Amino acid sequence: MLSLSSTTTTTIVAITLIFSLHHTTSLPPDAPLSTCQLTSFNCGTITNLSYPFTGGDRPSFCGPPQFHLNCQDGVVPVLNISSVSYRVLSINSVAQTLTLARLDLWNETCTNVYVNSTFDDPVFGYGSGNQNLTLFYECKPTSAFTETPKNLFHCESNGALNESYALVGSLPSDPILGIVECVQHISVPILKEQADRLVENRSLLREILMKGFNVNYWNSYESVCLE
Ligand SMILES: *[C@@H]1O[C@H](CO)[C@@H](O)[C@H](O)[C@H]1NC(C)=O
Ligand SMILES: *[C@@H]1O[C@H](CO)[C@@H](O)[C@H](O)[C@H]1NC(C)=O
Ligand SMILES: *[C@@H]1O[C@H](CO)[C@@H](O)[C@H](O)[C@H]1NC(C)=O
Ligand SMILES: *[C@@H]1O[C@H](CO)[C@@H](O)[C@H](O)[C@H]1NC(C)=O
Ligand SMILES: *[C@@H]1O[C@H](CO)[C@@H](O)[C@H](O)[C@H]1NC(C)=O
Ligand SMILES: *[C@@H]1O[C@H](CO)[C@@H](O)[C@H](O)[C@H]1NC(C)=O
Ligand SMILES: *[C@@H]1O[C@H](CO)[C@@H](O)[C@H](O)[C@H]1NC(C)=O
Repeated sequence: MLSLSSTTTTTIVAITLIFSLHHTTSLPPDAPLSTCQLTSFNCGTITNLSYPFTGGDRPSFCGPPQFHLNCQDGVVPVLNISSVSYRVLSINSVAQTLTLARLDLWNETCTNVYVNSTFDDPVFGYGSGNQNLTLFYECKPTSAFTETPKNLFHCESNGALNESYALVGSLPSDPILGIVECVQHISVPILKEQADRLVENRSLLREILMKGFNVNYWNSYESVCLE
């Protein structure tokens, strides 16, 4: 009698578990896993993308949530990493690298999304061939300039133009930091060769931000999924 009731309890626990697991994976009851094998993500220049990426025709359950893409306006593939939205310029699924550009800084040097681009997520990391760019906003000179700094640009804020600066490389090395005070600054990687172009010609900032930067991704669930 006792053992029977404990068996019943075990069965109930097991059934409850199966059902709750079922719900947490959000897999529809009759979803054939082949849906994942048969579908791909296609958006703008990004075509035939499969695991670990999802989005578009590929349901979310076909990959980890970090790899979910949106297709903005039907042509712009967008990936969010650490709450920042990026345009996906290219993907190399063999090397597991992405080229991304900040969505808020697309064809634009000003932003009101004051967040650093960071890649310390377990599945995304800084790729090779990048240089760091720091964008300073809402700046004021603390002493007079003898000549206008080359890396000065302007951003509109409540109808007025605020001063902004774009600095390439590690920060303390730029003397401008000694004579301006800025309210905001964000760090965004750019490609190394583009950083060199930017130092030569500061007017290229907007164009260079659109070249993006490299990010590595790790598909740490792959071995689990192949089982
Ligand atoms: C799409 O990718 C799959 C492998 O991921 C490949 O087998 C297939 O040939 C590709 N299709 C096109 C049209 O490139
Ligand atoms: C990325 O984040 C934005 C808001 O920050 C949101 O509207 C969008 O749906 C997210 N995109 C994806 C692919 O999750
Ligand atoms: C950038 O914006 C300018 C207008 O401000 C537009 O003429 C140009 O086509 C845009 N370039 C891209 C790549 O979106
Ligand atoms: C970006 O990071 C720098 C230091 O790494 C920090 O000082 C700054 O406040 C950060 N900016 C934002 C907007 O979080
Ligand atoms: C850029 O900044 C990040 C975060 O501070 C750092 O991990 C990375 O090594 C820097 N890259 C370069 C090229 O200095
Ligand atoms: C930026 O512009 C706004 C609007 O005119 C102004 O109130 C603010 O003081 C400016 N910030 C700096 C740091 O100059
Ligand atoms: C810098 O780049 C701008 C924008 O492409 C271009 O119009 C200008 O001629 C360039 N200046 C020099 C000195 O190359």
